[in-house]
Amino acid sequence: MGKTLLISSLFCSYLMSADIYETIFDGNCGSCHTKSDPSSAPLLQNVIKRYKKKYPTKKEFVKAISNWVYDPNKKTSLFPKAIKHYSLMPELGIDKETLQGIATYLYGKKD
Ligand code: HEC
Repeated sequence: MGKTLLISSLFCSYLMSADIYETIFDGNCGSCHTKSDPSSAPLLQNVIKRYKKKYPTKKEFVKAISNWVYDPNKKTSLFPKAIKHYSLMPELGIDKETLQGIATYLYGKKD
């Protein structure tokens, strides 16, 4: 009994750490940031690539993305041309902790 509980709570925290943020990304960001259609926003892999170049460590990357998405700002943007083209990304009202989870998921994303 105790063992089953432990295993299922470990399983839940595994899901929480990885998959849940993929789901949150898909539901809140993925409609604009896709892999192949740049008609609404820069392609996801380009966003990840540019942020990783400027913020190579996971810590810097997560901080930069979560802060920016929390409060989209022309001054701190790495995509000034995209802002001209699409206009500034809307503020989404997602809390910082969730955004950090999403950013961590993006940092570890393979493709
Ligand atoms: C309604 C469409 C839309 C949604 C939803 C959206 N974005 Fe964006 N995003 C954009 C556009 C357009 C840009 C390019 C203009 C800009 O940078 O403001 C952008 C730019 C960005 C950038 C680059 C910021 C910069 O300028 O340096 C990041 C990072 C980003 N989005 C992450 C996210 C994340 C994470 C989510 C979900 C929590 C999300 N976006 C949801 C449209 C969207």
